[in-house]
Amino acid sequence: MSKGTWYPLCRPDDERIKIRRTEGIYLYDTRGKEYIDANSGLWNVPLGYSNQHIMEQLAGQLQKVQYVNACEFGTEEAEELSEMLLSLHHDDIEKIVYTCTGSEAVELSIKLIRKYAALKGNGHKRTIAVLQNSYHGSYYGSMSCSDYDGQEREGYGPLLDGIRELSLPFCTCCRSGQVSDKCEAAMKDKLEQELAAFGDSLAGIIVEPILGSAGVIPLPEWFLRRIMEFAKEYDTITVFDEVATGFGRTGKMFCYQHYDMKPDIITMSKAMNNGILPIGAVAVASKIAEQFRIHDEFIFHLSTQNGNALCCAATKATIEELQKNNGELLVHAQEMSDYFAGRIRNEFMEQFPRIFDLRGRGMMFAIDLLDKDMSRKMRFNELLKVVNLLKKYGVIAEWSYLENLTSCMVIFLPYIIQKEQIDTILEKLLLTFNRMLV
Ligand SMILES: Cc1ncc(COP(=O)(O)O)c(C=O)c1O
Repeated sequence: MSKGTWYPLCRPDDERIKIRRTEGIYLYDTRGKEYIDANSGLWNVPLGYSNQHIMEQLAGQLQKVQYVNACEFGTEEAEELSEMLLSLHHDDIEKIVYTCTGSEAVELSIKLIRKYAALKGNGHKRTIAVLQNSYHGSYYGSMSCSDYDGQEREGYGPLLDGIRELSLPFCTCCRSGQVSDKCEAAMKDKLEQELAAFGDSLAGIIVEPILGSAGVIPLPEWFLRRIMEFAKEYDTITVFDEVATGFGRTGKMFCYQHYDMKPDIITMSKAMNNGILPIGAVAVASKIAEQFRIHDEFIFHLSTQNGNALCCAATKATIEELQKNNGELLVHAQEMSDYFAGRIRNEFMEQFPRIFDLRGRGMMFAIDLLDKDMSRKMRFNELLKVVNLLKKYGVIAEWSYLENLTSCMVIFLPYIIQKEQIDTILEKLLLTFNRMLV
């Protein structure tokens, strides 16, 4: 027995490096070692640590209202934030429901999908489609919708019934942006077969527009267009899970805004208040709210801390920072994205043939790596060594490994990063690759 903290995704006695101080894009551990956080926390700290505006707004909020019972009262902070969030979304979105996490936002989406079908008198529509290899969270519903590596759910069942998978429109033989006509045609055929099999049974489809945990895999535009078209035909609710891609991560405030699409539900969390306090939210289209109105129904969802005033104030401050000076931070982030991607493509991929691909959009990237014999993806143990060596050199990145699909380093750069700081990351990456990829 060893009493203490049991960390997420850990065995009972796994240890963690202890962080004593955070500042800008840097972390400092208890021994004084400095790290550049190239993972933006857990993808949720795009403005860096210790953002002055957020800290001031939060301190001010502590003097006003900290918490009220949302079953009895509202707050100006939650109302103002809803107004702000609605202004960020397309005009069919009517309501914002607060949650505490991304997983909870997905739970609620599952409930709304099924309740909408029931209210419409479509009791036969119970099935929800999700993408193979997607990750939507760790609660029972969101976990049932996830198939990150297939093994993670073992032994926890029974899971939620009625969740079915759509094949991932991704092939390992083609690099991003260079998918062959043959591969694309095969993926399109597969999708048509799967949609035809679902037909009118499909209550909802939940997608990450860019699969994050699976190794930054952007869904092709044709795929998204086809499922939106199918959903319209069968009154199927479309959910874009923007927990990882929201709040500017892909270059637009939300990833769906790269296309002319209007999902019925958008889930949000992570970068929402720059990681300072737990918050998530679900943006809901008026056609869903309208069914509750027609039937005079309540929404059956509650966590005690939903819409907490402090969390909302920190979120408002974060959005203000993102929108400051006509969104100049997102313009800066795109410049930094182009710089980073350009150097990886033009220098690193030239020098190291074992870098198979660079995927991503905006400030989310995956560097896909091959094994020494170049015939397969890098083995998991090797990939861990790469990421750990980079950490030893003082740069934090993530890994994603799915057997026969992806083996990659995952990098979510903070939007505030400067060119010289990217140069430092690349220097350390070069040291790492010189030892691991030759
Ligand atoms: C796309 C997506 N959805 C949902 C979640 C779950 O969010 P949370 O960890 O806040 O519960 C995550 C977390 O990584 C995610 O990437």
